[in-house]
Amino acid sequence: MFNKRVKIKALLTADQTNYQVTVMGWVRTFRNNQFIALNDGSTNHNLQIVVALGSLDDATIKRITTGASLKVTGTVVASLGKGQKVEVNAETIEILGDSDAEKFPLQPKKHSLEFLREKAHLRFKTNTFGAIFRVRHALAFAVHQFFNSRGFVYLHTPIITASDAEGAGEMFRVTTLPIDGTAPKNEDGSINYSEDFFGKSTNLTVSGQLEGELGAMAFSDIYTFGPTFRAENSNTARHLAEFWMIEPEVAFNDLEDNMDLAEDFIQYLIKYVMDNNKEDLEFLDQRLAEEEKQKPQNERQEFGLLEKLRFVTDNKFERITYTEAIQILLDSPHYKKKKFKYDVSWGIDMQSEHERYLVEKHFKKPVIVTNYPAAIKAFYMRLNDGCEPGKQTVAAMDILAPGIGEIVGGSQREERLEKLEARMADMHIPAEEMSWYLDTRRFGTVPHAGFGLGFERMVLFVTGMTNIRDVIPFARTPKNCEF
Ligand code: 4AD
Ligand code: MG
Repeated sequence: MFNKRVKIKALLTADQTNYQVTVMGWVRTFRNNQFIALNDGSTNHNLQIVVALGSLDDATIKRITTGASLKVTGTVVASLGKGQKVEVNAETIEILGDSDAEKFPLQPKKHSLEFLREKAHLRFKTNTFGAIFRVRHALAFAVHQFFNSRGFVYLHTPIITASDAEGAGEMFRVTTLPIDGTAPKNEDGSINYSEDFFGKSTNLTVSGQLEGELGAMAFSDIYTFGPTFRAENSNTARHLAEFWMIEPEVAFNDLEDNMDLAEDFIQYLIKYVMDNNKEDLEFLDQRLAEEEKQKPQNERQEFGLLEKLRFVTDNKFERITYTEAIQILLDSPHYKKKKFKYDVSWGIDMQSEHERYLVEKHFKKPVIVTNYPAAIKAFYMRLNDGCEPGKQTVAAMDILAPGIGEIVGGSQREERLEKLEARMADMHIPAEEMSWYLDTRRFGTVPHAGFGLGFERMVLFVTGMTNIRDVIPFARTPKNCEF
């Protein structure tokens, strides 16, 4: 059979010798017409293939170039060279696909992340991106394992919707109407969406939460894990127009239960990767350490990657209220020396400089901030009872992570119909179109809570990478939709 191959990772970890194998992969380097470093993506470690001198004709030798794909059959033997325990003495080498060394963009040297972003279709073939995307895969698997082991139902919420779950209006429209001005119009000149594909105005989802809540009202515990779209024009290292989000929604949970679930979840994901992707994390730890060395001393991070991850799994997250957070900022030497660009007062939507100060300078660990002002949060969050006049808060919680900022946003939901309706009216959210959502509160409403974890922000945190474009295979950002 063509494909009776052994994966390089399995071969390198088995330590067995003196048996025949077939391996397939891509050439990373070819030294002295004798040593091929072959990689098949199962691990960053290459398999050394030894070509006996004189066993290949010159024409074949010339075709063994960086990037070319090979099928090699040979004997596994103990390696005399440094760096590997076993290697393969080639008996036959078949070139599956040539790679013109002059034209192949990835040379056997270090390339910048910026360069590789432009070559995102090839960057999986590098050590850095090999490690990142194996870790991303492991994290996705761990998400399902965590919720499955706790009896949650994985609910597939729709990608096309007619509602704005976050009420922030940052949506991509979905339509089949012509955009050349000939779309059917209403009498007042606005577009008549009743003639559109779905008979109404539709968009790509910004969150699966509202549909998730419908599921939680029957299954008790659900989670979603899917692509999410935001047309916010934020060209930052933390924002994507298309990102993946995990959103658990749990009936009978209050804000405190919600925080416990989120903290357990994040710690579980990190532990899973530390147990199962040791090699890749060690590689990324080294990579980060080298990058840090290029920075001036005062800008370097205090912890290495592995140290940071261990710290997060071993310590409880700090929990403070928004009001306490604002007080810490106001009392800080940073504030007194006027070092914040944006002003601080009760009611502000904290800027990333404020969040980073709390997490990186003050607490030096992940922080859960609760009970934000109602005015800066979404309509579905539960109004807290007994607030000071003018200082109405909601049972919200954001988790802020070192180097990332907000990684989780969530809340206890407003389960009281009249309060929810009043809040929606205040915020000009059309209740008639959301009648299906309000039914959750009409028929057997219960206290419930949930949150959203930005998957790419989690991958950033675990890999120690700093730009979100480097942890999703093909990034969609303002003015960029390549590949
Ligand atoms: O805080 P957000 O907007 O919350 C929600 O969407 C809620 N419906 C979640 C819920 O309660 N079920 O988004 C949640 C998380 C953020 O904390 C952040 O990690 C991530 O999603 N996120 C983004 N990640 C990448 N690019 C963007 N543009 C993001 N916007 C939010
Ligand atoms: Mg948020």
